[in-house]
Amino acid sequence: MPEVPERFSNLAIGFTPYLVKPSEDVIRWTVGEPGFDTPRPVVDAAIEALEAGQTKYTRGPGSMELCTQISEQLNRMWDLETTPETVMVTPGAKQALLYAMMVTMEAGDELLVPAPAWPTYEGQTALLGINIVFTETNDLFHPMIESMRSSITDKTKAILLNSPNNPTGAVYTPEEIQAIVALAVEHDLWIISDEIYARLLWVDWPHISPASIPGGAERTMVVTGFSKSFAMTGWRLGVLTGPKEAMKAAFACQANANSHVPTFLMPAASVALTQDEAVDEFCIQYNRRRNILMEGIASIPGMELVEPEGAFYAFIDITSSGMTSIEFADRALDEARVQLIPGSLIEGGEGFVRVSYATDEADIREGIARLKAWLS
Ligand SMILES: Cc1ncc(COP(=O)(O)O)c(C=O)c1O
Repeated sequence: MPEVPERFSNLAIGFTPYLVKPSEDVIRWTVGEPGFDTPRPVVDAAIEALEAGQTKYTRGPGSMELCTQISEQLNRMWDLETTPETVMVTPGAKQALLYAMMVTMEAGDELLVPAPAWPTYEGQTALLGINIVFTETNDLFHPMIESMRSSITDKTKAILLNSPNNPTGAVYTPEEIQAIVALAVEHDLWIISDEIYARLLWVDWPHISPASIPGGAERTMVVTGFSKSFAMTGWRLGVLTGPKEAMKAAFACQANANSHVPTFLMPAASVALTQDEAVDEFCIQYNRRRNILMEGIASIPGMELVEPEGAFYAFIDITSSGMTSIEFADRALDEARVQLIPGSLIEGGEGFVRVSYATDEADIREGIARLKAWLS
């Protein structure tokens, strides 16, 4: 067989080994997936569209109706200035991120990412030959602007932000976002802003998109999607928006890669955007689960938790247990029957385990009881 190119040999596979479905008796605190069903009206709309024969090719960036609705919602909720012509519906936010990297950087360029960060960014930069440069965060996992500044070289082309953050749950403050936009303006850098969790916020400062700040709109590619807010992970529906020229390039990426998302999913996505009540209810439940988790972790020796500010993840400090994160996760699985993700799979994550509290309440309580019994 001819050789597979070298860059695939070290391609990160993220959390995959720790996401393997465990046996029935294990409490699974690992999967970043809403513990709810997709709202019924969304499912019905997809079935209706299929029955109405919406099974043909359609407009590449997404139906005009859906792009208009997304544009209006982004402008209203996050103060953006998109138009329907600068919005594209993609197969998941993951694909939108890949396009955003493709249209802002060349192979050999450097991308700054505050660590700890979602491992997919590392995998995607490896696919594209881009060099990822991790920058420091503080004790609350918020970005340290000086670390970003000192990491900038003549190869630096972009900064990637993910707030609310996976895996840490950090929500960057308006001042932090402003400072990062100012830095990007100063060095003429792109910003790729992964805002997939923007509606899942547990703090009293608002979600701020860098694209809403003066100087930000012309350099920010905003990524969001339907997976997390609307409990639609398996539908594979994401959104990319950005400056007109960059979006033209992104449309060309999609035209050459996968044409468009399935035609019959678009009317369903339109209905999803009207499901504010369902999203509000999911948020109430997540926040409730977060509080149960925080209270529970505070009572366990060897585990310490910085308050998760958004999304549905907690990044728990396990250094006082005396174990490495791999040892902790492996032993928690074997001895306490709780599945966790070791932080060492993530740059800057040694000494932590990542937990998703999107799982149901009973499993959070049972997991806490098991870990407590194990560590006590
Ligand atoms: C930070 C972050 N961005 C993007 C995604 C991808 O979302 P999607 O399911 O829309 O591809 C995820 C999914 O886990 C995520 O955690």
